[in-house]
Amino acid sequence: MSFRIQPAPPARPNRCQLFGPGSRPALFPKMAASEADVINLDLEDSVAPSDKDAARTNIIAATRQIDWGKKRLSVRINGLDTPFWYRDVVDLLEQAGDRLDQIMIPKVGCAADLYAVDALVSAVEAAKGRARRIGFEVIIESAAGIAHVEEIAAASPRLEAMSLGAADFAASMGMATTGIGGTQENYYMLHEGTRHWSDPWHWAQAAIVAACRTHGVLPVDGPFGDFSDDEGFRAQARRSATLGMVGKWAIHPKQVALANEIFTPTDAAVAEAREILSAMEDAKARGEGATVYKGRLVDIASIKQAEVIVRQAEMIAG
Ligand code: COA
Ligand code: MG
Repeated sequence: MSFRIQPAPPARPNRCQLFGPGSRPALFPKMAASEADVINLDLEDSVAPSDKDAARTNIIAATRQIDWGKKRLSVRINGLDTPFWYRDVVDLLEQAGDRLDQIMIPKVGCAADLYAVDALVSAVEAAKGRARRIGFEVIIESAAGIAHVEEIAAASPRLEAMSLGAADFAASMGMATTGIGGTQENYYMLHEGTRHWSDPWHWAQAAIVAACRTHGVLPVDGPFGDFSDDEGFRAQARRSATLGMVGKWAIHPKQVALANEIFTPTDAAVAEAREILSAMEDAKARGEGATVYKGRLVDIASIKQAEVIVRQAEMIAG
């Protein structure tokens, strides 16, 4: 228990974050025309070292020249262990248009990583008199990142969202995997000779959700690499949504509709949530704190669960 009220995360839809390499500007107008809530133009691992300068120039031009509509526009900078990141921050903050909403910091390992970027961003913003304060999002994708996830979630008032990056995370943890997210063939329990696959990402996801919910940050599931496996994507996304995550990355345009489908509450789920709220209104009028809905207990906690679904649906609709 705590007397502190849990802070609300940013009230905006974040069902799908569509990525594209900064070195492929021909993709930018297609990304802008997509149904993704967030656009992530990449300077990091989808861009070869020899292309970093050109990718920066492409992205800066795109913040000014492309109509991004109502989408959240984010640029993924390079990690703090590279020689590229300071130039990413300085050039973006000095030259990108005010349409740039946030930067994504990959491979964060501790709160001081955000402090360092915040210091640089704050200095350039002040020097240039930027009208709009840039937001941050981070990727938890290392052993250090997950070990320090709560201090990272609390590290900067700029922080809006936190994603799990399954591939780098697996590598950093020394996991014996090659696929990017999803079911891992060797992660199973054996019961009477039958294999039951378990979820190796569960712990990291739950830790991220708890850190995010404590500090008012949006928890997001990262990439699913096999873009020819729609059902695999859906299964991963459903588990993430069930755990409290609000959205998932798309690394190919065909994944956008899948993410929007799973992270938009269904009409049936919203209708049931409203029925529970109404059953509890009736119970309250009778002076009762608990009642029966479709043969099961609902009580005051059920109101809060139902409100999560109704609020999410209303925010997406609005
Ligand atoms: N955003 C928008 N449109 C995209 C796109 C993207 N990320 N990736 C591909 N497209 C377009 C293609 O241009 C093509 O359009 P067309 O029908 O008008 O010709 C269509 O979608 C089908 O593309 P396809 O041929 O299947 O893909 P590809 O071989 O061109 O590219 C990838 C495949 C995976 C290399 C590419 O999608 C990509 O770079 N994804 C993002 C990778 C990334 O940013 N990773 C970092 C985060 S993990
Ligand atoms: Mg990564």
